[in-house]
Amino acid sequence: MIPTLKTDRLTLRPIKISDLDDLFLLRSDECASNFVDAIIDANKEQTLLRLLSALKDVEEGKYWKWAIDLDGLLIGTIALWNHNIVDDSAEFGYRLRSPYRGKGYMSESLKRLLEYGHCDLSIKNIYVYTEMSNLKSNNILPKLGFIYQKTVDEEGQNIKQIFHYNVYLHQEK
Ligand SMILES: CC(C)(COP(=O)(O)OP(=O)(O)OC[C@H]1O[C@@H](n2cnc3c(N)ncnc32)[C@H](O)[C@@H]1OP(=O)(O)O)[C@@H](O)C(=O)NCCC(=O)NCCS
Repeated sequence: MIPTLKTDRLTLRPIKISDLDDLFLLRSDECASNFVDAIIDANKEQTLLRLLSALKDVEEGKYWKWAIDLDGLLIGTIALWNHNIVDDSAEFGYRLRSPYRGKGYMSESLKRLLEYGHCDLSIKNIYVYTEMSNLKSNNILPKLGFIYQKTVDEEGQNIKQIFHYNVYLHQEK
């Protein structure tokens, strides 16, 4: 069950079928997909298949996923996945539609979800793996209290290239 959470300007809520048009804009936006190991959707049918699969995974409790909602529009998404109970960790993945960047919406959303992840889900260690050359993403993480750990090279699971990930960790205080 994904809870709906509020921030000053945004609502973080479960994704739903009626988000299809906005999700297509997000997933077909080449700028939104730079640095991310995700295929750019060529049409709405592809987005629908991914949306249905995500809804199923969320329903089955495989991970948590929120729509970042600004006045009824989905402007981005954040997932909390790779939950590992052994080392008490999980990982954020996030993206914003291009027109909504540079306004602090992602930082505002992550701040709320860090609180939710640590306090409500009791996850001690929250990681972000972000491509080294992804300046925007590397810029926001330290301001949110993430600490750089190391850089690792990994082959993409969807995109055939080597990613150079900066690994950041946020720990419960
Ligand atoms: C990574 C990504 C989410 C960052 O987006 P962003 O808009 O830079 O992040 P925020 O929404 O937190 O906005 C921060 C910027 O808004 C500015 N800003 C304006 N008003 C603000 C406010 N009220 N509060 C905070 N920051 C504000 C900040 O100064 C900052 O600008 P700067 O980069 O010039 O310093 C975005 O580039 C993206 O979706 N990229 C593609 C997907 C991706 O790379 N995902 C990461 C995978 S790990």
